[in-house]
Amino acid sequence: MKFFIDTANLAQIKEAQELGVLDGVTTNPSLMAKEGITGRNNILKHYVDICNIVDGDVSAEVISTDLKGMIKEGEELAELHEQIVVKVPMIKDGIKAIKYFSDKGIRTNCTLVFSCGQALLAAKAGAAYVSPFIGRLDDISTDGLNLISEIRHIYDNYEFETQILAASVRHTMHVIDCAKIGADVMTGPLSAIEGLLKHPLTDSGLAKFLEDYQKGN
Ligand code: G3P
Repeated sequence: MKFFIDTANLAQIKEAQELGVLDGVTTNPSLMAKEGITGRNNILKHYVDICNIVDGDVSAEVISTDLKGMIKEGEELAELHEQIVVKVPMIKDGIKAIKYFSDKGIRTNCTLVFSCGQALLAAKAGAAYVSPFIGRLDDISTDGLNLISEIRHIYDNYEFETQILAASVRHTMHVIDCAKIGADVMTGPLSAIEGLLKHPLTDSGLAKFLEDYQKGN
C-alpha cells in the first residue's frame, strides 16, 4: 500500500519524506487555507514546492464546478509539474472532466467519494485515483472501511486500473485496516503514519538491551 500524506504543511511533508516511506501528497483547498496559502499564484507555487520535496504524485484540486472551468484549471495544474494529479470533485461535470483529462493523458484523482456508485462512475471515466473519505463516513455513523472493501470488490470484478486512495484517514488503525482490505493508497496525517512505529514492548525491550549493554562495558 502506498503512503500519501494529507497536508499542505511543508515541514510535515519533509519529515514524512525523510522517513523514507512517503509515496505522495494529497491536498485540498481547506488544507491550503490552514497553512495560510491564499491567492492563485501562491497556491500554484506551493504545489511546485511540494513536488520538489517528494518523489511521487501530488494531488492539486480544481475550484471550478463547471466543465469548462475545470478543464482550464486542470490543464494549468497539470502543466505545473509532471508529478501533479488533477483532483476533481465527484459531480456530473467532474465526471465529464475526468473523461476529458483521461483521454488527454492527464491523470486525475476523483475526490469527495462516499458511495460505490460514485466510485464505479469515476473508474468508468478513467480516473487514476478514487478518493473515498472514510473518516467523514465514520463521523456520521457509517462504516467508512466497509466502503473501501466494497469498492475493492467491484474494481477487482472488472480489473479497473483506478487506484483506491483511502482518504480522510484519521488515525493509525485506519491505516492498518486499509492495508488489510487492500486499498492501493492511504492518505492521512503524519501522526497516523508515525503511530505505526509505536509499541510499548519495543520501548521496554530497547531500554533493557541498552541497560544490559552498559552493564557489560
Ligand atoms: O483527503 C481528504 C481529506 O483531506 C479529508 O480529511 O479529515 O477533513 O475528513 P478530513
